[in-house]
Amino acid sequence: APSTFSTRSCRYGAEALREAALLIRAGEPVAVPTETVYGLAADATDSKAVAAIYSAKGRPSFNPLIVHVADRAMAERLALFSGEADRLAERFWPGPLTLVLPVRADSGLSPLVTAGLPTVALRMPAHPAMQALIRESGCPLAAPSANRSGSISPTRAEHVLASLNGKIRMILDDGPTSEGLESTIAAPEADRIRLLRPGPVTAAMLEQASGLPVVAGGGERIEAPGQLESHYAPSKPVRLDALRAEGDEYLIGFGPMPCDMNLSVGAELHEAAAALFAALHMADASAAGRIAVAPVPMEGIGVAINDRLRRAAA
Ligand code: TXA
Ligand code: MG
Repeated sequence: APSTFSTRSCRYGAEALREAALLIRAGEPVAVPTETVYGLAADATDSKAVAAIYSAKGRPSFNPLIVHVADRAMAERLALFSGEADRLAERFWPGPLTLVLPVRADSGLSPLVTAGLPTVALRMPAHPAMQALIRESGCPLAAPSANRSGSISPTRAEHVLASLNGKIRMILDDGPTSEGLESTIAAPEADRIRLLRPGPVTAAMLEQASGLPVVAGGGERIEAPGQLESHYAPSKPVRLDALRAEGDEYLIGFGPMPCDMNLSVGAELHEAAAALFAALHMADASAAGRIAVAPVPMEGIGVAINDRLRRAAA
């Protein structure tokens, strides 16, 4: 039977960091902020530690996980960088871009991390807490979003606690995350960039940095199960493109309008992205029976916001 722990939420600092790294080295997952969402991190080279992530999240199947690195040297021990990959890493790391690259035969990664794929998803986060945890632990960290499988991703330590209380030992709390949406996932190829998950690094940014066309999706196979419909779902029905609340709906607004919670009164997309998951968490916890969300324009990071909203409503 899965054991239960008392979960401690600790303010990020030197002492909390040291404790978190000790847990990681002992094979325990720890929740840690990144600039996108809070992740549930464990030693990516230790299969028991990676299995503990799956069990805490209640992930039904072994989906591949993103591996977080502190620097390029660590990344190059795990994966092969083409010229295209190099250019994107140069431009966007550290930051909210995950690159899907051929995994090295001598990477030392747990096979649970790649789920048998010949590729690995790598990311160098910009958040100081995650960077420090990787360095202090001395290993690459596998980290999916720190929430029970199928629920909304956490952008605050309170969200992690509400979702994983009793399932993990420790949360490093460094306040709300700045981006608010999961990283962009891209697979660089010789003549194009495949966009597997839209995120804070937009298609236009990838195109500009690489000089290559950006094409959506991954062909026949589902390469990013995060793309599955119910992945970001609140427990209540969600109606999109709502101009006003109907019945007992909790209305999440965008731009000046009467609503229960506004993503951005000034209709600023980056502000809306950072506020989105907290708004969904709030709406889900409210007394309302249903959730409605105002239209958000499909430009810049609005593409990623609409992607998450569509999944929340599916
Ligand atoms: O912002 C983020 O990316 C957060 C923070 C914690 O870094 N992490 C995150 O992880 O969103 P997760 O596990 O919720 O999503 C990982 C996504 C999944 O959709 C998975 O299928 C995809 O990455 N993925 C992992 N390895 C892959 C691979 N080799 N090829 C294609 N997709 C892969
Ligand atoms: Mg997730």
